[in-house]
Amino acid sequence: MTGVGCARSLAAKRVLLIVGGGIAAYKSLDLVRRLRARGALVRVVMTAAAKEFVTPLAFVSLANEKVYDDLFSATDEQEMGHIQLSRNADLLVVAPATAHILARAARGLCDDLATTLLLATDKRVLYAPAMNVRMWLHPATQRNVSTLHGDGAWFVGPNIGDMACGEYGPGRMSEPLEIVQAIETALNQDTRLPAPEGLSTRGGALDGLHVVVTSGPTHEPIDPVRYIANRSSGRQGHAIAAAAARAGARVTLISGPVALSDPPGCETIHIESARDMLAAANAALPADIFVAAAAVADWRAEPAIDKIKKGDQGAPSLSLVENPDVLASVSRGPNRPRLVVGFAAETRDLDKNAQEKLARKGCDLIVANDVSEGTGVFGGDMNQAHLVSRAGVEDWPRLRKEELAERLVARLAQMIDGEAS
Ligand SMILES: Cc1cc2nc3c(=O)[nH]c(=O)nc-3n(C[C@H](O)[C@H](O)[C@H](O)COP(=O)(O)O)c2cc1C
Repeated sequence: MTGVGCARSLAAKRVLLIVGGGIAAYKSLDLVRRLRARGALVRVVMTAAAKEFVTPLAFVSLANEKVYDDLFSATDEQEMGHIQLSRNADLLVVAPATAHILARAARGLCDDLATTLLLATDKRVLYAPAMNVRMWLHPATQRNVSTLHGDGAWFVGPNIGDMACGEYGPGRMSEPLEIVQAIETALNQDTRLPAPEGLSTRGGALDGLHVVVTSGPTHEPIDPVRYIANRSSGRQGHAIAAAAARAGARVTLISGPVALSDPPGCETIHIESARDMLAAANAALPADIFVAAAAVADWRAEPAIDKIKKGDQGAPSLSLVENPDVLASVSRGPNRPRLVVGFAAETRDLDKNAQEKLARKGCDLIVANDVSEGTGVFGGDMNQAHLVSRAGVEDWPRLRKEELAERLVARLAQMIDGEAS
């Protein structure tokens, strides 16, 4: 395959690559390079044995992401829980899939991060086996492969050829390009595993949906030490992200600088400026629902390279330019989510301004807040929203931000259901 067509064939697809401890692990470096060149976001997990063959640093450099290898890492678990690591991917790929990984996965063992992810995933797994010919042809391995097939796994290879050990036969890992093609084929299909019986009855209202939430303020630098900011605390946006995750959604939270911890169950991306936020939002798409709760700065200054000094010239004047409009860009962009929700913080003419914003930005719903002095919305526990849609304005009572978030998420689920039916 050549040309621009194939260049971005995996744009924004999330691949979780598990690297097992086989001699073919070096080929997985090339696999990461090729996936990234096609626009895929690749997260790498290594087994302890894999690290005997290739260093994590090599994968870090190629994937431009940290490498995960420790099930019991408190830091990793806090940043991105192992369940989330597995669920955030569109596809899990095991390359090389050693005899040992196949055996553990077939038995449902989970004694390290790699196999725990394989058991916890709700997506299909593509295995690229690589092992000595006798190991591959051993009845135990063949039994394991057939069990995994039965569980919905996909396989690419192994190829027949000369082996590193000097023998000849089936067992060579497929070449990186063959694995890329298998990944492209896999990602053209529905990679979600059917919910096991018993799980579906729990019925998360947003099960299977991807929700992107922006939250907090943005910081617009004016020099290396100063910035323009606003009073947003991020509490409402973070509460919405957490509520969406509880409702079963895969949540990407794009957060400006806030003094809050990352909500559980969400992939949180930290940004500073409005332009960072737009880039992160575009990278997070496609999504089913976009909730723009962040207070994005409307303007930015051209930041001075050096700290602006107090001097004879008096106070410096700032010349401001308009920032990109994150909400309008997503709402009017080519990857528009099915539902786009904006927030409007107003100090006067709340409903009128919110209705204008709804039309101007092309969104489906505006959550309008009165932030005039004395309401205590910024940084406080409570919020009072007016829901503005094309159907009209609905006044909600004053609620705790967490309650408002639950209520909003329930409404979004209803709107999505209404759209589907
Ligand atoms: C030099 C060397 C090469 C190996 N190559 C392979 C291989 O290609 N495939 C395989 O299944 N096991 C291979 N093994 C054995 C695995 O490393 C071993 O089974 C290990 O426990 C696999 O762990 P993992 O599945 O957790 O990565 C090799 C071992 C050594 C010492």
